[in-house]
Amino acid sequence: MLKTLRVLASQAFLTASLSFLATSPLHAAPKPAPAKTAAHPPGAAIASAHALATQAGMDMIRQGGNAFDAAVAVSAMLSVVEPISSGIGGGGFFLLHDAKTGKDVFVDARETSPESATPQAFLTPDGQLDNDRATNGPWSAGIPGLPAALVHVSQKYGRLPLKTALAPAIRVAREGFEIYPRLERGYASRRAVMERYRGTREVFLADGTPPRAGEILKQPDLANTLQLLADKGFDGFYKGEVANRLLAAVKEEGGHWRAEELSGYRVKEREPLHFKYRGWDITTAPPPSSGGVAIAQMLQILAGWDLESLDEAKRTHLIAESMRRAFRDRTIYLGDPDFVKMPVARLTSADYAAGQRASIHPSKATPSELLSGPPAPLEDDETTHYSIIDAQGNRVSTTQTVNLLYGSGLVAPGTGVLLNDEMDDFALRPGTPNAFGVMGFAANAPAPGKRMLSSMTPTFMESGDRLAVLGAPGGSRIITEVLLGILGYDDGMGAQQVAAKPRIHHQWMPDVITAEQGALSPETVKALEAMGHKVNAGEKPWGNLQTVSWDKRANTLEGGTDPRNPVGKAEVLVK
Ligand code: GLY
Repeated sequence: MLKTLRVLASQAFLTASLSFLATSPLHAAPKPAPAKTAAHPPGAAIASAHALATQAGMDMIRQGGNAFDAAVAVSAMLSVVEPISSGIGGGGFFLLHDAKTGKDVFVDARETSPESATPQAFLTPDGQLDNDRATNGPWSAGIPGLPAALVHVSQKYGRLPLKTALAPAIRVAREGFEIYPRLERGYASRRAVMERYRGTREVFLADGTPPRAGEILKQPDLANTLQLLADKGFDGFYKGEVANRLLAAVKEEGGHWRAEELSGYRVKEREPLHFKYRGWDITTAPPPSSGGVAIAQMLQILAGWDLESLDEAKRTHLIAESMRRAFRDRTIYLGDPDFVKMPVARLTSADYAAGQRASIHPSKATPSELLSGPPAPLEDDETTHYSIIDAQGNRVSTTQTVNLLYGSGLVAPGTGVLLNDEMDDFALRPGTPNAFGVMGFAANAPAPGKRMLSSMTPTFMESGDRLAVLGAPGGSRIITEVLLGILGYDDGMGAQQVAAKPRIHHQWMPDVITAEQGALSPETVKALEAMGHKVNAGEKPWGNLQTVSWDKRANTLEGGTDPRNPVGKAEVLVK
């Protein structure tokens, strides 16, 4: 029954999005554009994966807050209403643009590895990867980073008190919100794991039955934990009562964290990656995300062709070949910059891209096995993203996560905190695929305090006329969702068209182009197969892209929320 509903929802989405695209010319006849561009956006725009989160952000703007206050409110609310995707037991990346200083900064709130998580800890007695330990319960959890980011972003960049920004999330955690079908479906798929743990049962089986769409989910312990964070800042989560409960929960379930690993957690401010693509300045995520490096590689490879002038098969071939090459390098080279030396400058250089471009045959697929190095299969959907622009020109692009659906499944009793299972993003056994089939090597091996490699790719793109903020969830497909989003804006699409745009993906290994049902015409599939590509064109829709854009000439804002997710919301508030 549930499966049928999901299929119907997918078909409804595809019909809606394809007819939307058919009736919305990508290159509408341009209105006479004002000669001058506006200095500031006319108001604020927010797009997130849940209407309550968008509303919490807009509440901050109405109270005189800026994009950074709104970001804290949105992040905290998503932690309450979207526990399947992210939360204060997990981590994330915040890409900020501070209009006052003109600076971009990347706030890295990725989880860190506890000392107990040695590679040996994740092996079975016969030396294989212990998949249960890697993805479920206390061993799978890294030290959370999101609460530290909320405090940091609020105190360093916000105008309103942290308490004000956390208030909406605290209220909804206490009073409850309506469970929607994705939460129910995700719970069903993770139920066996989640119901192992006392603290998780206390939250999700409070009335004795699993969560059902339409019911109200109240999380009073999570409300208390957020209140302690609001009252005491960093220490409210990483020291004292909450920290002690987290340590006790990990211990009770057989794992081991040290108190200093919590109290010593720090967010890192890093320099974002910057590069140019066809008149756009792109600002995106540096390592420990793999996303920005891959986006820089793919776009600079693609910059050698006028994609718009090519037919769909040629264009898809070249895009897939650029994806293949970027994902190969991701697997081999990338990890935490505080622990490994990476050839980031080389990988993101125009010269390297020119070499990669030259290796692409104009009408023949390159078999992935001909690109050296070991293979990396697909990740699945999880994680969440939101995008914000305010009237001062501040911007926020945040992707946050607990990794797999409902993270580790372990809620620390008495805290409401659902811990992540981000340890599985490390290469826990070199060359062995993780839960999503992604593998890695020395660069991404775990070590105490090290951050696991991510695909999260919060991004800004700006030209003389337009500005867009975008990002998405979806494991390794995050990177290609963002790539296709950038190409969509470059094609002249609006924010909502970018969010709805049909998706394709290639990640080197498995050596296949996956495409959403209807994303490629049957003729294109045939033409790609004739070039030597394997094509799986029947995939269910994936991703949940959230984006906002500002047209500087018309001085208009637009929000785009992914129609694949019925509970998302984009809102524009003009002064
Ligand atoms: N856990 C998803 C990612 O960071 O890529």
